[in-house]
Amino acid sequence: MADSIIVTGGAGYIGSHTVVELLAEGYKPVIVDNFCNSEKSVLNGLKKITGKEITLYEGDCTNKSFMQRVFEETNPKGVIHFAAYKAVGESVEKPLEYYHNNLVSLLVLLEVMKEHTCNTLVFSSSCTVYGNPDELPVTEETPTQKAVSPYGNTKQISEDIIHDTVATKTGLGAVSLRYFNPIGAHPSSLIGELPIGVPNNLVPFVTQTAAGWREQLTVFGNDYNTPDGSNIRDYIHVVDLAKAHVKTLKYLESKSSFYDAINVGTGKGTSVLEVVTSFEKITGQKLNYKIGPRRSGDVEQIYASVDKSKQVLNWETELTVEDALRDAWNWQQTLPKAN
Ligand code: NAD
Ligand code: WQD
Repeated sequence: MADSIIVTGGAGYIGSHTVVELLAEGYKPVIVDNFCNSEKSVLNGLKKITGKEITLYEGDCTNKSFMQRVFEETNPKGVIHFAAYKAVGESVEKPLEYYHNNLVSLLVLLEVMKEHTCNTLVFSSSCTVYGNPDELPVTEETPTQKAVSPYGNTKQISEDIIHDTVATKTGLGAVSLRYFNPIGAHPSSLIGELPIGVPNNLVPFVTQTAAGWREQLTVFGNDYNTPDGSNIRDYIHVVDLAKAHVKTLKYLESKSSFYDAINVGTGKGTSVLEVVTSFEKITGQKLNYKIGPRRSGDVEQIYASVDKSKQVLNWETELTVEDALRDAWNWQQTLPKAN
């Protein structure tokens, strides 16, 4: 029988793409989601892509008795923990909500995993833990920096909580995947990112501008110390990122009382202006944009060293930024104008 894997936040952007890859590799994903930042219609998209009915537990990961019931009924082999609030700016306005949701959900999960001797955990971390790095590309040994937002701090504290739990040597094997900038959508255009309201992230803003939902994109600064003056990021296709989770589960099969953090990126930096140019070239859409002031809190440039993910996970990206921009645009065109 297929191994059950609990996917908290499995109806969300990265979680839903990971559910597809889990099924493709013979696992039985069990989605646990309260739909605070996703739509039930995602389940229809997943069914169309995979041809399978996916088990869903609707509820809140911070609710221990609910999580105990999920574990009792599904007896999972492992957990991929995506469920969290993720908007950096909002976390500054609502620190308590962010600390509560992101940390209590992890604590409850670890407690329930222990009760059920479920010893495999893949955790969604972020390149935000590196802050404004002194060296590029950033390796996993690059020192982390004090987080500039409560959101970033929840990722650092979460990594510490997992590390300290593993150190008790009760068998838990865990990896924190430090994602760089996930973009794109499933090539079927049946699932993708569903930003609520005005997007903060670059690529949804680009596609919404091209679709006429937003009047104009503002490029936040062209006076950075980079070749074209705009910020540089490591944009990774969400399907590649999803596959990295399955590789990590397999890697953890032979691990006990083990913890590590691994970067998940392409290893290649792309500037904001390069994203704009590539998008125009691939889609044939002229993008209305202007150069504006820098956005507070933005790091100048960051991209991943991918040596470790290649070596230990035997994983590397197969898709390009161009593929991701094309898929993001195709997905955008399926969306009803909502806001
Ligand atoms: P998302 O908001 O699309 O998905 C998160 C899902 O978790 C949503 O479906 C939401 O309804 C659910 N959720 C949140 N809190 C919950 C709770 N208490 N109980 C049950 N369900 C809950 O976000 P995403 O982009 O898919 O991100 C997934 C994870 O990856 C998050 O932990 C995020 O911090 C992390 N991450 C995201 C990015 C990014 O740019 N998207 C980058 C780095 C790290
Ligand atoms: C990318 C680049 C902007 C919008 C965030 C989080 C990070 C991680 C990923 C969760 C930057 C520029 C953007 C716009 C622009 N998430 N930009 N105009 O800030 O690299 O990372 O998402 O863990 O923690 O901070 O991503 O997509 O917001 O920005 O010029 O309208 O695009 O300045 O250089 P970011 P982003």
